[in-house]
Amino acid sequence: MYLSKEEEKLLESDNPTIAKSMEILVALGEVYGADKLIEIKSAHISGISYQNIGDAGVEWLESLNAKVSVRTTVNPAGMDVFRWREMGIDEDFYRKQMKILRALERIGAELSLTCTPYYYQSVKRNDHLAWAESNAVIYANSVLAARTNRESGISAIAAGIIGKTPCYGMHLKENRAPNVLVKVKGNSAALIGYELGKILKYDEVPLINLPRKFSNDELKLMGAAMAATGNKAIFHVVGQTPEWNEFEIPTEKIELDVGEIEKDCEPDLIALGCPHLSAEELLRIEKLLRNKKVRRELWLFTSRKLAKELEKVVRCIEQSGAKVFCDTCMVVSPTTENFECVMVNSGKALEYLPKLRKVRVVFGSLEECVEAAL
Ligand code: F3S
Repeated sequence: MYLSKEEEKLLESDNPTIAKSMEILVALGEVYGADKLIEIKSAHISGISYQNIGDAGVEWLESLNAKVSVRTTVNPAGMDVFRWREMGIDEDFYRKQMKILRALERIGAELSLTCTPYYYQSVKRNDHLAWAESNAVIYANSVLAARTNRESGISAIAAGIIGKTPCYGMHLKENRAPNVLVKVKGNSAALIGYELGKILKYDEVPLINLPRKFSNDELKLMGAAMAATGNKAIFHVVGQTPEWNEFEIPTEKIELDVGEIEKDCEPDLIALGCPHLSAEELLRIEKLLRNKKVRRELWLFTSRKLAKELEKVVRCIEQSGAKVFCDTCMVVSPTTENFECVMVNSGKALEYLPKLRKVRVVFGSLEECVEAAL
């Protein structure tokens, strides 16, 4: 891989964090056949819940000794940093999680604590990014036509520090071309993404023919699920996503008929906000809960930035007894393990909750989830 003089100097820097960051980027570039590094507009770090990275992760983050050189945001943590007690988080977990956040703050990362960095900052078509959060990656590539590979937490930190990423994969137009045309029957975006991720082969980029126009919230749910069950980084939707007609229409065709998923447990927690809720979703929920009281735990997850911007809406939602938590989610927080059966409207949560939090899951639309809480 070609390195400029300046990049070579960074590789031999006296600062071990900078040298290591360059080493990581060069190693990745060589494995994936990149010919150079390219500048990025922003980085996004994932995998920062203490639940996921433990003491070894805390130690590694605390050992970092350099500042990020581009805007670098951060995924959800294992708790709401203010209402952690209310979530049932213990003091020990709180302290360790805060160590992680302080270490990230020390390197200059913004504690956005959201998996929807696309609501947090402006992202433009063709912007090169180094994001490590699968739903954010697939949304940025597919809905915003920006360019990012699926980074790991570590490579996103390295890219944030150096301000560059190796040029391969999604950064190159030719790798973004669809190679399979999928005709879909079904109504639920999350379930379509969930099933599609399962049937697509590793190297397949779908061009999807949907039965109707999906909102951006629906595309978010569909992409998040497809990235969870199928490791996808991009999809195109006929007539909708920005790059769908910039390539040849694939000749290979498949059909997918997505039905309902049977409900096999009675939820003791209803959790919405995987990925974090948008302003529109919060408004929809507020409308459904207006002048009503919930009978079951209804937890909503969104970014702190959005919760502040929609303070009044959040207050109205909470008057129903529902709780709006920030900085975290039902998948990365250990607190979900205190429940037995969780109802979600997210294909990603449907995939991960049984595996990571060992709880049973039932699926419903946003409206059905709210209804089940009343
Ligand atoms: Fe976000 Fe948590 Fe889902 S990080 S995409 S809400 S698993």
